[in-house]
Amino acid sequence: MAEGELGTRFQRRFLAARQLPSFPWPELEQNLRTSPDSSLLVDILHKHESTAAEPLDELYDMLADILNEEESTRCYKNYLLPTGEPVTLSESVAIISGGTTGLVTWDAALHLAEWAIENSAVFSNRTVLELGSGIGFTGIAICKTCKPKTYIFSDYHHCVLKQLTENICLNGFVLEPGTTQHIQKESQGQEAEATHYQNPKLIVAELDWGSVTEKQLLDLQPDVIIAADVVYDPEIILVLIGMLQKLSTSRADRKPPEVYIAFTIRNPDTYHLFQAELEKAGIRWQITPAHSNTVFLCDMQPNVTILQLFI
Ligand SMILES: C[S@@+](CC[C@H](N)C(=O)[O-])C[C@H]1O[C@@H](n2cnc3c(N)ncnc32)[C@H](O)[C@@H]1O
Repeated sequence: MAEGELGTRFQRRFLAARQLPSFPWPELEQNLRTSPDSSLLVDILHKHESTAAEPLDELYDMLADILNEEESTRCYKNYLLPTGEPVTLSESVAIISGGTTGLVTWDAALHLAEWAIENSAVFSNRTVLELGSGIGFTGIAICKTCKPKTYIFSDYHHCVLKQLTENICLNGFVLEPGTTQHIQKESQGQEAEATHYQNPKLIVAELDWGSVTEKQLLDLQPDVIIAADVVYDPEIILVLIGMLQKLSTSRADRKPPEVYIAFTIRNPDTYHLFQAELEKAGIRWQITPAHSNTVFLCDMQPNVTILQLFI
């Protein structure tokens, strides 16, 4: 593997705060054994320093004081898109916090974004509705790379919606006024600073699959519906399928939207239950062919898959 490419792989994992075992250590060892004079280590160290200037000792001291003061429950992660542009997210450090799994980015979200980038025509100039968006990785990556006409992020958990809204603004996007107004107010300061450069119209909607009405869905008119890691619990499966059935007739032209659901198969029983319930509801499905690039994930994850549903 070329030295530059190996350096970049280290950089991507470092910026996204991936776990150390996922770094390409064997390739680094191999490289250092075959060319001990290589500048690779220097390159990796440079990639981890954001500036060529000497860091001030005082800054490090202040940082150490802050870190010692209290343990933070949040961190910032940067995911580099193929263009080199980052998606920056404020995430929880715990996988479950505030009673929700929605405050971290799950592998299925990374997988779905990789697939979307390779299949951008599915999203280009269309209205996309994302269910259970969590803190927004997939949607922000799609808005930065796939040129949707409108992107509707949605979730039902208050803390998740607040964090999602902050992350959208953190990435330079401005939300359309009128949706989830109580949430937008809280982050108005950041919105004012955000650069208004995007084409897609961005909306954050408070949508609970269990209680949403067909009338509420009529406003959305999605061409494409996506979701990542929303099939993890038998209870959730029925309300999710009920929601998809309502969405199948929600367009004025009665043309059903295209649906893509990405998930990690943790428990094969849950996966089979989802398929059985889809069949009961008369929803056909097929597994989408695997994409070839692993931009955000370290390697192809054999237990992460995307189903296309025909609602
Ligand atoms: C495991 S997280 C996945 C978040 C994100 N899509 C990802 O993959 O990183 C599941 C998300 O589904 C949302 N969710 C669960 N049940 C829901 C419901 N009934 N209505 C709307 N959203 C729901 C949760 O709030 C949470 O954000």
